[in-house]
Amino acid sequence: MDFKNKSIISIRDMKRDEIDFIIKSAEILQDNWKNYKDYLKDRILGTLFFEPSTRTRISFETAMKRLGGMVVGFSAPEGSSLAKGENLIDTVRVIENYCDAIVLRHPLEGAARLAANYVKIPVINAGTGAEEHPTQALLDLYTIFKEKGGIDGLNIALLGDLKYGRTVHSLTYALSNYKVKLTLVSPPLMKIREEIIEDLKNKRIKITETSSLDEVINEIDVLYVTRIQRERFADATEYERVKGSYRIELKTLKNAKKDLIIMHPLPRLEEISQEVDYTNHAVYFKQVKYGLIVRMAILLLIFGFELK
Ligand code: NCD
Repeated sequence: MDFKNKSIISIRDMKRDEIDFIIKSAEILQDNWKNYKDYLKDRILGTLFFEPSTRTRISFETAMKRLGGMVVGFSAPEGSSLAKGENLIDTVRVIENYCDAIVLRHPLEGAARLAANYVKIPVINAGTGAEEHPTQALLDLYTIFKEKGGIDGLNIALLGDLKYGRTVHSLTYALSNYKVKLTLVSPPLMKIREEIIEDLKNKRIKITETSSLDEVINEIDVLYVTRIQRERFADATEYERVKGSYRIELKTLKNAKKDLIIMHPLPRLEEISQEVDYTNHAVYFKQVKYGLIVRMAILLLIFGFELK
């Protein structure tokens, strides 16, 4: 499998064997990452964040530094020449002269693909609008794989803002490579885009939609919760109508399987009560740790190192 110099733009571009290869590489790295601490010496990663981020940006930076590499970039366009009106294409064409790879987050769908078309170095999509967040999907799969021992055969529910949540879009496409039962649970106004369901009709995955978590809570192995993406709403009254419409508390989990895992890409707002953090179900902070390992593996692979 060759990821050398490859961009990671959309999870839809990846086949199952490529996804499994990344999962396997991360697993090899997890217990031995200290052995790789000089591998990316002399490499520079550019992190261009046109939208807020805590985990994605800092985990890419940490991943790069733990492998001996360096990082440059900005975490808000206000501090760069974007504030003077420079466009995205010019920005990445300039940054290409400083760096060996770019990690890009942008509010516009298609921005990562556009950027990748104009530069010769690999571009990693760190989130584009409501569209996609492929490295989050990879770390989500890795979390499921590590916590449940595999992905095929699982019963998984995605809960929350499935309309604007880019992590659920990428995760749904990623899971469609596996034989899983997927239940999409959302308030009616927050349902996933019809075109995604259409796209996945003939895949291995079985998808059903509901607005009631109670209906499925006793059957599921994985519950993936997301926040309402307030910043994506064109209409503030639409947000007011869905705000607070779902929340996981201890009582919500009364009928849950003992080994149900609860995931969340974070940031968490009101949708998971803090009391849940102290149950064995909660894996969202472990998921952060897995995310670092997966991003280290991705960086090693695109810089041409295989993990064996
Ligand atoms: C997510 C994102 O940016 O899409 N955050 C993340 O990268 N972990 C989820 C979110 O903002 O709700």
